[in-house]
Amino acid sequence: MKAVKVPRHKAEEVRRFAESIGAKDKGRYVICRGEYVEIPIYDGFEKYFEDYEIIEQKNPIFAPKSDLFEVLKDCIPRELWDYIPRRYKIVGDIVLIKIPKELEIYKGLIGEKLLRIHKRCKSVWRDLGKEGMLRKPRVELIAGRGSETLHKENGCLFKLDVTKVMFSVGNQGERMRVVKLVQDGEVVLDMFAGIGYFTIPIAVHTKAKKIYAIEINPDSYYYLLENLRINHVSNVIPILGDSMHVTPEKVADRVIMGHINCHEFLSKAIKALRCDGFIHYHETVPEIIIERPVERIKRVCESLGREVRIEGFRKVKNYSPGVVHVVVDAYIY
Ligand SMILES: C[S@@+](CC[C@H](N)C(=O)[O-])C[C@H]1O[C@@H](n2cnc3c(N)ncnc32)[C@H](O)[C@@H]1O
Repeated sequence: MKAVKVPRHKAEEVRRFAESIGAKDKGRYVICRGEYVEIPIYDGFEKYFEDYEIIEQKNPIFAPKSDLFEVLKDCIPRELWDYIPRRYKIVGDIVLIKIPKELEIYKGLIGEKLLRIHKRCKSVWRDLGKEGMLRKPRVELIAGRGSETLHKENGCLFKLDVTKVMFSVGNQGERMRVVKLVQDGEVVLDMFAGIGYFTIPIAVHTKAKKIYAIEINPDSYYYLLENLRINHVSNVIPILGDSMHVTPEKVADRVIMGHINCHEFLSKAIKALRCDGFIHYHETVPEIIIERPVERIKRVCESLGREVRIEGFRKVKNYSPGVVHVVVDAYIY
């Protein structure tokens, strides 16, 4: 294992250069020995460091592996490597990971390795998907303990229990996009508020006059109230109930329909607008019928005698093979 031996005063410069050309061996630490510093490099890069001595490093210090695939490769048979998850999400101090059934017997090991990689995390939960209209998470503890956590995102705090409510880390961009659209003095209605995914950032970052936040699931509603409290916001009116029945009429300038299966609620959303206003309508849709969400909005507007201008159509994320989660910004007048 090679290293470049450089005088101390040159160490930073050479380390940066080694990194810039991809020569620095990420698996070993830079070591100071007396007046010299050893910068570990991969074999084959020696020629880029002709001004310095290249040494065979004695007693290298290895950096702990931080890539899950690299860590698991040593413990899982080669024929299963393709199943090793490349991605997982971290909510607060909890790791959530999808594990294919082929790696079932390795789930405990995967959990332990993840806790070793992410030392500040307290538990690892296997993500088995979401259930029904309430999007209740199906999860299984595979390492550590504890299911309640505090997640920080864009200057907002979200307290939640991963066994009771979901948190889509992948929707972060959409949450902040909507925040930027809200004008001073607006009344916003969040029809599927959850624990405050949109409501909290809007309350924290905008000068909205009022935000109605409707949530049907008592567990999510409990955390919504907690999150209003810990974020010190006071302009939110939380409502526990079914948006189909409790959505107020003629109150809002902007309605957020942040549920991926909510087309049946479109007429309620439109009736909630004070007069003209925006609706941000979410849907998961197969790419081959990508026009469906816009067609649905137009159809409901027509039935209510309202006009609509589509101001935006955006992919939030890939949902499943061939299916995308989109959001439509519709101006209703
Ligand atoms: C999928 S979550 C919203 C996720 C959010 N868009 C994000 O950025 O992560 C949808 C929420 O709507 C709630 N919900 C479902 N049906 C409802 C209804 N009829 N009335 C009110 N809330 C409802 C669910 O309980 C859940 O908390």
